[in-house]
Amino acid sequence: MPAIVIVGAQWGDEGKAKVIDLLAEQADCVVRYQGGCNAGHTVVRQGETFKFHLVPSGILYPGKTCIIGPGTVIAPEVLKDELDNLHQKNIATGALYISPRAHVTLPHHMAVDGLKEDALGDEQKIGTTRRGIGPTYEDKVGRIGLRVGDLLLDDDTLRQKLAHLVHQKSPLLEKVYGLPPLDTSELLRICHEYRNIMAPYVTDVDALLATAQENQDVILLEGAQGTMLDLDHGTYPYVTSSNPTAGGACTGSGLGPKAIDQVIGITKAYTTRVGSGPFPTELFDAIGEHLCTVGHEFGTTTGRKRRCGWFDAPAMRYAIQINSLDSLAVTKLDVLTGLSEIRICTAYRHMKTGEILTAFPSQIELLAQVEPIYEILPGWHEPISHIRHHDELPPAAKDFLARLAELCHTPVALISVGPNRDETIMLADPIRAAATCANPLDVPLGTC
Ligand code: IMP
Repeated sequence: MPAIVIVGAQWGDEGKAKVIDLLAEQADCVVRYQGGCNAGHTVVRQGETFKFHLVPSGILYPGKTCIIGPGTVIAPEVLKDELDNLHQKNIATGALYISPRAHVTLPHHMAVDGLKEDALGDEQKIGTTRRGIGPTYEDKVGRIGLRVGDLLLDDDTLRQKLAHLVHQKSPLLEKVYGLPPLDTSELLRICHEYRNIMAPYVTDVDALLATAQENQDVILLEGAQGTMLDLDHGTYPYVTSSNPTAGGACTGSGLGPKAIDQVIGITKAYTTRVGSGPFPTELFDAIGEHLCTVGHEFGTTTGRKRRCGWFDAPAMRYAIQINSLDSLAVTKLDVLTGLSEIRICTAYRHMKTGEILTAFPSQIELLAQVEPIYEILPGWHEPISHIRHHDELPPAAKDFLARLAELCHTPVALISVGPNRDETIMLADPIRAAATCANPLDVPLGTC
């Protein structure tokens, strides 16, 4: 049975949690593979809203194995709040497992994240979530990070590790950031608190995943953020510090590439982005306001207003290539209802030279110098959130989806027409069927 990667195909906030929640019903195991509490995954179930930052949303199904994988970074206090909230709602967390290889976000990581952003100023700041994500990954790459497994070490060994960390890090924190020096004993005390929170969940997840594979279980790999925020493939430096792309699902979970059977890209029917960086199809007009207001485009983690714009096919084709996407799940189609015309960016034009670009540029300097070339399609006015079959969608909505799939050379397997689970149109069973589409162009909407 398959391992399926659910990846954000844009700049994050595409609605991954809803798709995971839908597919988790058929899955045995859900693995979060990168990022930390910068993520905000919202699931609406029977009118009740659940917000996740670290715990895989599959936890809402009793008995599904939920793993926070080696590629993640974990702020234990945030995890504790999330677990407490789940327990208050009588959601059991006994099937949650945390990799000892995941890294721990410490208080100074959060402090440095904010200080770095402030020092960059409005012009140059990344617009991070200030959750300490970048500084935690910096220490991981610098090989002085504290891993979850370290929290379980005996005190003498842990103290030695912390003393090394203090020796390496404290001068930098004091001299560059003006923070108080780190203290080994205080860090040890904090680690004891973190141990109490995390110890019940820390498990050798490699063994769990090996057993899941042997048992032919369905494994969902849950990405956070999105392709354009990928450290290597996104709009660097306006990116996050991990790899949300499908490759990151392997390194971040411990499953090898051959274990992945298919990759589903989640995209809104339009585009949003939070934080700084170029965004060619961004709208600054009443339509942008419509998308923001009707789509409730405010960050789950930070509450920040998201920047909104039209669907960008060159960016999506890039995401499809980088992630080997088998199919697309198009979310928030209902947000487009009421617009008299809908635009899709099909290519870019360089604003100075007039050159036409059909590919997504690798340099953000170039991306900042292009303007979108749009194809204009008629809109629709009928509400669509009650519709459950593709055939019943207004003709203009069907044409929009067909054109989107055609421009992206990739089938659409699922359409979301509202935040609730049931507000979904399934065109294919993404777990079983999408991988069998021999030629996606022959089935532009993925009805395989
Ligand atoms: P960081 O991940 O907090 O370091 O932020 C780096 C960039 O990624 C900023 O532009 C953030 O706005 C963006 N970002 C981080 N997490 C998310 C997310 O879950 N959704 C959308 N954008 C995010």
